[in-house]
Amino acid sequence: MKIIAVIGSPRGMQGNTGRLLEEVLAGAGEAGADTEILSLATLNVKPCVACDVCHRTGVCHIKDDYEAIKEKLLACDGFILASPNYIVSISAQMKAFFDRCNGLIHCQTLEGKYAAVVETSGGGEDKFVLNYMERFAQLLGASSVGGVGSHTSGARTFPEEEALFAHAAQLGRELCRCIEEKRTFPNQQIFRDNIKARMMTLVEMMRDDWIFERDCWATKSTD
Ligand SMILES: Cc1cc2nc3c(=O)[nH]c(=O)nc-3n(C[C@H](O)[C@H](O)[C@H](O)COP(=O)(O)O)c2cc1C
Repeated sequence: MKIIAVIGSPRGMQGNTGRLLEEVLAGAGEAGADTEILSLATLNVKPCVACDVCHRTGVCHIKDDYEAIKEKLLACDGFILASPNYIVSISAQMKAFFDRCNGLIHCQTLEGKYAAVVETSGGGEDKFVLNYMERFAQLLGASSVGGVGSHTSGARTFPEEEALFAHAAQLGRELCRCIEEKRTFPNQQIFRDNIKARMMTLVEMMRDDWIFERDCWATKSTD
């Protein structure tokens, strides 16, 4: 079972988010997952330029690390999104990555995969950022298993750390269990069905231009 963790902190795994992510990955490792960390601090993912080339061809024309990350996401069973809270949202590095995934959302490419989310903050509003990342995972077509987030109490330390780390490890194990069981989340299904219908309609509207995405939906409907 392969799990990819994308971390959007400019501090990579050396920061607070990296510390909490370590515990989630330890839980996933215990449950038998082969985990891999992709740090946007060292990888190069530029912002989307809205050229629509990905919608036409299935490949982003910007020459950076996005396509390699995409291939890893396509090949994994589950993925983890980890970001610090930056102004009640994700980091700019993570947002650039999210935006570049627009074509994956249009084609609901990550349908059948499972996701967990990790966040840290200086002062709170953790749930807000976690919810946003969970929503992104669902937009991709994936099922969201849950998240763990906390404000910090110093560099790489957290209040009630023992309980937080236990929760984080439990999330990692739970991600693996969901993958093994192919668990369904009926409470997410309505949202995902709506998104799917919306994306099909959008791609149909653009069918003469967005050839790759049109063919993608044509293949899905014959599966
Ligand atoms: C540009 C910037 C914006 C931030 N915005 C917020 C914020 O809105 N709310 C908050 O609680 N903490 C905020 N913080 C603090 C970080 O979320 C916090 O230090 C986090 O744990 C950093 O994680 P890292 O070490 O993994 O990068 C901000 C930090 C930076 C550098």
